[in-house]
Amino acid sequence: MIYTQTSFNKKTILITGGAGFIGSNLAFYFQEHYPDSKIIVFDCFRSEATFSNGNLQSFGHYKNLIGFTGDIICGNINNPADLALLSETKFDYIFHHAAISDTRVYDQEIVMKTNVNSFYWFLEKAKNDNATLIYASSAATYGSMPSPQKIGFESPENPYAYSKYIMDQIAANYSKKNQDLKIIGLRFFNVYGPREYFKKKTSSMIIQLGHQILNGNAPRLFRGSEKILRDFIFIDDVLQANIKACESKNNGVYNVGTGKPRSFQDIANILQKELGCDYGNEYFPNPFNGYQMHTQADISLSEENFNFEPVFSLEEGIKKYIPRIKEMHNMPFD
Ligand SMILES: NC(=O)c1ccc[n+]([C@@H]2O[C@H](COP(=O)([O-])OP(=O)(O)OC[C@H]3O[C@@H](n4cnc5c(N)ncnc54)[C@H](O)[C@@H]3O)[C@@H](O)[C@H]2O)c1
Repeated sequence: MIYTQTSFNKKTILITGGAGFIGSNLAFYFQEHYPDSKIIVFDCFRSEATFSNGNLQSFGHYKNLIGFTGDIICGNINNPADLALLSETKFDYIFHHAAISDTRVYDQEIVMKTNVNSFYWFLEKAKNDNATLIYASSAATYGSMPSPQKIGFESPENPYAYSKYIMDQIAANYSKKNQDLKIIGLRFFNVYGPREYFKKKTSSMIIQLGHQILNGNAPRLFRGSEKILRDFIFIDDVLQANIKACESKNNGVYNVGTGKPRSFQDIANILQKELGCDYGNEYFPNPFNGYQMHTQADISLSEENFNFEPVFSLEEGIKKYIPRIKEMHNMPFD
C-alpha cells in the first residue's frame, strides 16, 4: 500500500533497529514498494546477554530479515566506532527505532545511555545530511494518565518511559534551534503483527495468547480482563504512520494508536473464534500494583498533521495475522 505522494525511490534510507519488529517490517515495506530505494539497516542484533530481569538485552534477529536485499550493518548505537560506519553515507531519511524496548529493564544507566545518549548522534546526523528524522517514542510516556492520552500530559513511570519522554524533549529543543529540519516522534501504543515473535515475553498479548491456544490450552488472563483495555494497533497501521509522518506539517511528537481501546478478554475471544476453538479462559490474579487499566490514543494531532488514518480493527488485524501466528507456533527462539 502506497500512503503518500512522496516517492522513496532513489532515496537513501537508514533504519536503526531494523532487525527488530517494527524496523524489519519497515525495511520490507520500502523494499517492496520502492525497489529503487537504498535501504541500510543498522542493528546490534541479539547477543546472548541478558538483563537482570532474565530478558535478552536486544531482540534483533536475523530471521526477521531473511529475504531483505538491502545493506546491513551490525553495530551498537552506544559505540562511536560503530556509528562512524554510517558517517560515509548521506541519508535522505532516518527511521530511528533502535532502543532498549523492554519496559521492565530497571537499570537506569543502561536504558538512558542507550536510548537517550545515542539520540544526539542521530539528530546531528540528520542535520548534517539534511535528512528527515522519524524516531520511536512510546505511549509508555503517559504512565497511568487517564484516557484518552494526549500529547503534553505525560507521567513516565519507569526508566524506559522516562528515556522516551526525554528523547521527546531533546527533539523539541533541537527542532526549535533547527527549524528547517523535519523531526517527528511517534508514540506507538500496543503494536502487534508479524516479526514480533523474537521479542519473546515482551511480544504482544496477541501472539502470546495465540500460541497458548494453539498449544491446546485456555488463554491465561488476569482476573477482570474484560475491564483492562489497551489501544492495540496493527503493524500495517504503524507503517502507515512512519511513512505519512515524513510529510507532517509540523515537527513534534504524535500518538500512533487506533483511538479505540479493546480489552484483553476481546483478544482471547477473537483468537479463539479465528482459530476455531473454545477452551474457555484461565484467570489468575494480576500481580502488578498500579497496573494501567485503560489506554486510548488521542490521535487528533496525527490526523491533523499527517492525515493518519488507522484502518485495522482488532478483529481485522488478528484475522490478517493468524497465518503468521500459526507459522511461528513452536518456532525455536534461537
Ligand atoms: N512494539 C511496540 O508496541 C512499541 C510501543 C512503543 C514504542 N516502541 C518503540 O518502537 C521501537 C521499535 O520497537 P520494536 O517493537 O520493534 O522493538 P524491538 O526490540 O523488536 O526492536 C528494537 C531493535 O533495536 C535493536 N537494538 C537494541 N539496542 C540496540 C543497540 N544498543 N544498538 C543497536 N541496536 C539496538 C534491537 O536489536 C532490536 O532489533 C523501539 O524504539 C520501541 O521502544 C515499540
